[in-house]
Amino acid sequence: MWSRGPSHAAWKGSIALTSDPAFAIRRYSVQDRPDVRRISVQTALMGEPGSAFFDDDEILADALTLYFTDHEPGSCFVAVCGGKVAGYVLGARDARRMDRICAAKVLPSLLLKALCRGTFLRKKNARFLFHVFLSLLKGEFRAPVFSKEYPAALHINIDREFRSAGVGSALIQAYLEDLKRQAVKGVHFATMSGKAALFFEKNGFQLLFRGRRTYFRYFLGKDVPLSIYGMRIA
Ligand SMILES: CC(C)(COP(=O)(O)OP(=O)(O)OC[C@H]1O[C@@H](n2cnc3c(N)ncnc32)[C@H](O)[C@@H]1OP(=O)(O)O)[C@@H](O)C(=O)NCCC(=O)NCCS
Repeated sequence: MWSRGPSHAAWKGSIALTSDPAFAIRRYSVQDRPDVRRISVQTALMGEPGSAFFDDDEILADALTLYFTDHEPGSCFVAVCGGKVAGYVLGARDARRMDRICAAKVLPSLLLKALCRGTFLRKKNARFLFHVFLSLLKGEFRAPVFSKEYPAALHINIDREFRSAGVGSALIQAYLEDLKRQAVKGVHFATMSGKAALFFEKNGFQLLFRGRRTYFRYFLGKDVPLSIYGMRIA
């Protein structure tokens, strides 16, 4: 377990207002699952709630976290502050294996669950999926494959009240140390958050690819950048 006390330079902002400002980084365990799913939904739109574009938290949480929590929990870490889960890094040691499991298991069961719940019949969801489909037709999902040089993947999010207090950096470091111990040679991930770019660059990641996505234009009024970052580890 990695922990930080109140004297750490990162203590500032809202986190300092909690009665016990210390946070600890520890491996994910199954009792963290509801918190991880809640944070994933609340941060799904570049750090803002996913309810802006999708009307089914259960399905959205499955799409964002199910592979990691249910198929590779040993590669996930959470930050705990004052007894509350403040954020997570969800990892995959081998992105190609993750893709295979998602295609064979996660996606089929997710589609079936969504059909049973009538998720696709809800107007907000149908509209979002229609725009994703248009993006697919436009070739926006084409990107170079980095899994050979950077085999691992990650997904990170911090609950709003705990941001900019060092939690994200500590989670990234814990995950990178774990990958290093396992001699994984690199890690990469995609993000649509332009704001988070500085965070990733400060933590040693390099921009590998930049694209754009148009499927949020119908309600954001603008395209969103898609950046793929990577880091060599071993
Ligand atoms: C991006 C994120 C993971 C960073 O974690 P964090 O705990 O807030 O970051 P840290 O406190 O460790 O690092 C802070 C540094 O990162 C940068 N940074 C972090 N969030 C930033 C933001 N929203 N805008 C600009 N810079 C940001 C800054 O350089 C900051 O340094 P400073 O506080 O000295 O200015 C977290 O803010 C978050 O989850 N944001 C919303 C969702 C998101 O963008 N997730 C990433 C998707 S892959």
